[in-house]
Amino acid sequence: MPATTFTLHPLAPTLGAEIRGLDLSRPLSPATAAALAGALDRYLVLAFRDQTLSDADLVRVSGHFGPLDKAPITEHGRLHAPGFEEVYVISNVTENGRPIGALGAGESVWHADMTYLEAPPYASSLYALEVPAEGGDTGFLSMFAAYDALPEELKRRVDGLSIKHDSTTNSGGYLRQGFAPPVDLASSPGTVHPLVIAHPASGRKALLLGRRPHAHIPGLPVAESEALLDAIWAAAVRPELAWHHRWRVGDLVMWDNRWTMHRRDPFPGDQRRRMHRTQIAIPAEARRMEAA
Ligand code: OGA
Ligand code: MN
Repeated sequence: MPATTFTLHPLAPTLGAEIRGLDLSRPLSPATAAALAGALDRYLVLAFRDQTLSDADLVRVSGHFGPLDKAPITEHGRLHAPGFEEVYVISNVTENGRPIGALGAGESVWHADMTYLEAPPYASSLYALEVPAEGGDTGFLSMFAAYDALPEELKRRVDGLSIKHDSTTNSGGYLRQGFAPPVDLASSPGTVHPLVIAHPASGRKALLLGRRPHAHIPGLPVAESEALLDAIWAAAVRPELAWHHRWRVGDLVMWDNRWTMHRRDPFPGDQRRRMHRTQIAIPAEARRMEAA
């Protein structure tokens, strides 16, 4: 019997809902999958607890939300779960002297996933297989709330601007394999997106910041771009707008990658943390980030 009903429990004022009553290891009915996609659109982050998912389950569940992208290139090359190119491994665990996943045990700074692509993933889903006793919480921030938090003067300044999203370095601060460290921010590799985007249905405006390091506002001298980006980040990225998830084994957390950013706390390097992630491609009808 496919699971068809769930209850939804909001987690924080700006975003997040826990979904209860679903066993995701069983087939999802199309109606339930559509209701979950609607909940993701509305709450931006969905958390499911006490799941027991294989990689095939993770791929199947995520596949209800859209086609899956391949795992990105990390500091150790392209790492994916054995047999599943679309399952990205985030872990500090090493096996036979080799890292099995990305991001180590350090902090991962605020970011959205893979915004250095023309069409970044629409959503990501992250499943916890092993978690440390302390640290490693993952925080989420609504970029609608971040935009709203800008002083009016800054809203006027960012209107119509673009921003280049750096492709050389990941959120752990590690250089992706095959890339050189950026020297000149104005000419370093990346993809340019509008700095303010609007939800196609509601028209609500959101900031599209990607990540702070190595970002650049095209057309501005680097020093000016740096100062403006610092001002935007200081005004928009506020702890009180964020919600942090404390992981348990068996948690699946999905986020809408267009309207949120996320970060991860560091954790003790001698404890194991092992997460499997899928990245869900943006629906074909919305392949570009639309300017507000
Ligand atoms: C991610 C990510 C943070 C974490 O999955 O995209 O940034 O909690 N992960 O490991
Ligand atoms: Mn990420």
